[in-house]
Amino acid sequence: MPAEAIPDPESLSLKLADEAATARLAQAIAGALRAGTTIHLSGDLGSGKTAFTRALLRFLGHTGRAKSPTFSLLEPYNLSSFDLYHFDFYRLSSERAWLDAGFDEYLDGRGVVVIEWPEMAGDTLPAPDLLLRIRCDPTAGADARLVEAVGRGPRGRECLNAIRAAGFCGPDSGLAAAPR
Ligand SMILES: Nc1ncnc2c1ncn2[C@@H]1O[C@H](COP(=O)(O)OP(=O)(O)OP(=O)(O)O)[C@@H](O)[C@H]1O
Ligand SMILES: [Mg+2]
Repeated sequence: MPAEAIPDPESLSLKLADEAATARLAQAIAGALRAGTTIHLSGDLGSGKTAFTRALLRFLGHTGRAKSPTFSLLEPYNLSSFDLYHFDFYRLSSERAWLDAGFDEYLDGRGVVVIEWPEMAGDTLPAPDLLLRIRCDPTAGADARLVEAVGRGPRGRECLNAIRAAGFCGPDSGLAAAPR
């Protein structure tokens, strides 16, 4: 793709007071997903990438258990509107190992793709529609998280718009007033 055709990313900064606020963020994003949307989740161990994905699955109608793909690398879900592929690349043996395993077939645009630890794949992964960079915010309490949401292209913009519409970025969206 020529450089000028790559859409500029746009980003939003959010504060999440607790895990319930993380779930509300997942709820907002769940409503904006379409088959083919890709989400990358970056952040330290225990920052809440799997917790976010479990909430996302719940709001997409998954009622069963949602296992962390830490060891399997991939957990697939057959949801009512699309398939969702939940990856965790933390244990990838090399940047290209996901390609060698044939996982690129899941990025064919038919399902929603959520990838924890995308940085383990280096530059071999295409840029996502939405990147959530999650950081703990110990100054605001053990459960507080700071999130930078970076959206690219129409699908990324739809996600960012849904986050805004859910009230995460307005004047009252500080930690104490995470949206209900
Ligand atoms: N605001 C919050 N958002 C998400 N999880 C939170 C929050 N506050 C506390 N938690 C807790 O933090 C932990 C997050 O664990 P989780 O497995 O989701 O992290 P992770 O980022 O997926 O880690 P890993 O890199 O090991 O896969 C859970 O125990 C969850 O209950
Ligand atoms: Mg995880």
